[in-house]
Amino acid sequence: MRREFLKYLSEMPVLWFGISVLVGLIFIGDTVTDLEIAFAVLYVSVILLTVRSGRTGAIAVVGIACAALTILSYFLTRHGASQAGLINSALSIVAIGATTYLAIRIETIDARAREAQSELARMSRLMIVGELGTSIAHEVSQPITAITANGNAALRWLAAAPADHDEARRAIERIVADAGRAGDVIGRVRLLVSRSSPSRDMVDLGEAIDNVLELVRSEIRKNQILLRTELANDLPLVAGDRVQLQQVILNFVMNAIEALADVSADVRELLVSAAAAESKITVSVRDTGIGIAPARLDRIFEAFYTTKPNGMGMGLAISRSIIEAHGGSVYAAPNFPHGTVFGFTLPLDGKSRG
Ligand SMILES: Nc1ncnc2c1ncn2[C@@H]1O[C@H](COP(=O)(O)OP(=O)(O)OP(=O)(O)O)[C@@H](O)[C@H]1O
Ligand SMILES: [Mg+2]
Repeated sequence: MRREFLKYLSEMPVLWFGISVLVGLIFIGDTVTDLEIAFAVLYVSVILLTVRSGRTGAIAVVGIACAALTILSYFLTRHGASQAGLINSALSIVAIGATTYLAIRIETIDARAREAQSELARMSRLMIVGELGTSIAHEVSQPITAITANGNAALRWLAAAPADHDEARRAIERIVADAGRAGDVIGRVRLLVSRSSPSRDMVDLGEAIDNVLELVRSEIRKNQILLRTELANDLPLVAGDRVQLQQVILNFVMNAIEALADVSADVRELLVSAAAAESKITVSVRDTGIGIAPARLDRIFEAFYTTKPNGMGMGLAISRSIIEAHGGSVYAAPNFPHGTVFGFTLPLDGKSRG
């Protein structure tokens, strides 16, 4: 508990430094000015700042500390009428108390909304993984079939007279590689469906894209889609939640695959790219699918907007809220000559929130 708290403090040093300086200044101001001046009301701004910490406990502690400092200042102040001072201090404490109460309520509602959003994101991941079930099973069963074949081969090489150890070793090496591949696929699925609250990692978006494409590989193959990637190889890391960002890419890619299913097989192309410029990084998913009428473009990010018989219309709404929570923005535009391009940009200044 203590360690967690210290870790948390170290993650938001600028905020806490700012709050401490402000508290110090208000305390000095309140103590050196006359009792008639209700300087302590300014503590309200400190409490409002504390909301940014996202912790109700921290807001309560700061509220109580501000009230205590107001009382301490009252006793330390040398000048002014003590009755006016008493009334001013009492008023300040009421203001501090009311603000603290409201700030805690706002933060509680906010936290609930964030929780609901991350649960929704998880549900949508589960749904997509469910849809991808056969593909993922195929992705895993392929290496397992190869493992069985190579295992039998190794046994035969060893049983031969004389035994061929080199061939047996090569077969076993292939087994190890295939087992690793199967394990990777399972690991990716597990990561994607895991119930985790948003975290703040340093995310390699190139790797995130590779992971997602690995999951949909057989879906892409089955639909005869020509997949290309253009990933700049010096992509900087972005601060954010890796699972959530993968979720966004997965939503875009699944939509693209669905849009491509409705056009003839010889024009099905999917291009996933990532590039960094100045202070932002852009990921885009470009398809040559059925496209979207310009008039509908501004509706597709709305929750429950869908044109698919079995669609929920949640994929893009969730994607937008994830990206905006990271301080970025999503966009959609027609692709030339047909299809659509979806993308998001994230700031690289480290100010993003995961
Ligand atoms: N790449 C695309 N090409 C054409 N239309 C698209 C594309 N992506 C999204 N759309 C349109 O936007 C709508 C909303 O997409 P969204 O992902 O939010 O929901 P959905 O795919 O219909 O359902 P789900 O919640 O299962 O993802 C889609 O129904 C479709 O009409
Ligand atoms: Mg969708």
